[in-house]
Amino acid sequence: MKGFLIVLAGVSVLGVVTTERSSCLKRAVFSSTNFENILTWETEADIPPGTVFDVQYKQYGEKSWLSKQECQSITQLFCNLSRETENFTEHFYGRVRARGCSSSWVRSERFEPRKETIIGPPQVEHVPQSRSIRFLIRPPLTPLRGEDQQQLTVEDIYSKFGAVDYHLIIFNQRTQQQWTKNEHNKEFEVSNLDPDTEYNGTVYICLLQRRSKPQVFWVKTLADKTWILYCLVALAFCAGLVFAATAYVSYKYIKQRSAQPRALVSALSHCSSACRSQNQPCLGLEASFSPCPVWDPHLSLSQVFPAPVPAWPWALLGMQGQGLCQGLSTL
Ligand SMILES: *[C@@H]1O[C@H](CO)[C@@H](O)[C@H](O)[C@H]1NC(C)=O
Ligand SMILES: *[C@@H]1O[C@H](CO)[C@@H](O)[C@H](O)[C@H]1NC(C)=O
Ligand SMILES: *[C@@H]1O[C@H](CO)[C@@H](O)[C@H](O)[C@H]1NC(C)=O
Repeated sequence: MKGFLIVLAGVSVLGVVTTERSSCLKRAVFSSTNFENILTWETEADIPPGTVFDVQYKQYGEKSWLSKQECQSITQLFCNLSRETENFTEHFYGRVRARGCSSSWVRSERFEPRKETIIGPPQVEHVPQSRSIRFLIRPPLTPLRGEDQQQLTVEDIYSKFGAVDYHLIIFNQRTQQQWTKNEHNKEFEVSNLDPDTEYNGTVYICLLQRRSKPQVFWVKTLADKTWILYCLVALAFCAGLVFAATAYVSYKYIKQRSAQPRALVSALSHCSSACRSQNQPCLGLEASFSPCPVWDPHLSLSQVFPAPVPAWPWALLGMQGQGLCQGLSTL
């Protein structure tokens, strides 16, 4: 019994020692963003210089481990297994061993890229107008390639399994109002916004039950320029009115002016005939207009009417003529 206990104690001590000796390498984990799958590991703080690492991987369900050629006898603490784990419908394991300090293989947990990869923030392009903003969302790219060798986005991958949505939270800096929008298209417009106003917000992608990291944006809507257009239209309208009024007045003036001499002549003719009927000389006008003056358009006014003629108003002249005549006839 005593001997058994001693043996047991010896085994435990040996066990502890073995554990301690193999612990120069700590856990190995996959660290994955946008399907860039990197196996990383940690070591004890005091590993001997010159320690190197070997990496192997295998698909879940396979028996044999495969060596990652680029990750043999390496000194860095990570290994890029993106290509080896690119089948996103599969699960994988990775393992690492240190040489230089005592260690056995340290294996990762089962890694399922589609469930575990961190989906980075999308790129957001925005084109502001005065009352709306157009958004164009670009999902993150992955190292994976499609059949046509085109680089796949996370959306290309998840849309094989279900719907992909784009979520937008937008916040009006002036009114402090916030609202959300859920879009199925990468390109969409948010309308009914205030002009010349700053908006901030976040955009993220919902892929199956997962969501991407949010992208934040700040955008300012354009100042509303439609009032300038209204002003221009109003100005043009006013200019048109002024022009029309000027044209009308000029037309009236020209028409009146050409009508005036006729009015004058008829007044003079009335005067002279009135004078003649009373056998009165009409201030010498009788001579020039006798027997009845006929308007000669080639005669200037001064020729027709040698006395200084008041230019305006013509009607007054006519009255003056009549008054003159009446005055004379009373003599
Ligand atoms: C990925 O894995 C699935 C299921 O094991 C298999 O049917 C498919 O052919 C694999 N795709 C590639 C590109 O190897
Ligand atoms: C990992 O490998 C993938 C595929 O070869 C490559 O696109 C990516 O840039 C690599 N990442 C790093 C950090 O080296
Ligand atoms: C916008 O900015 C305000 C601070 O000005 C912040 O409280 C709010 O969370 C931001 N909104 C979004 C959707 O990022």
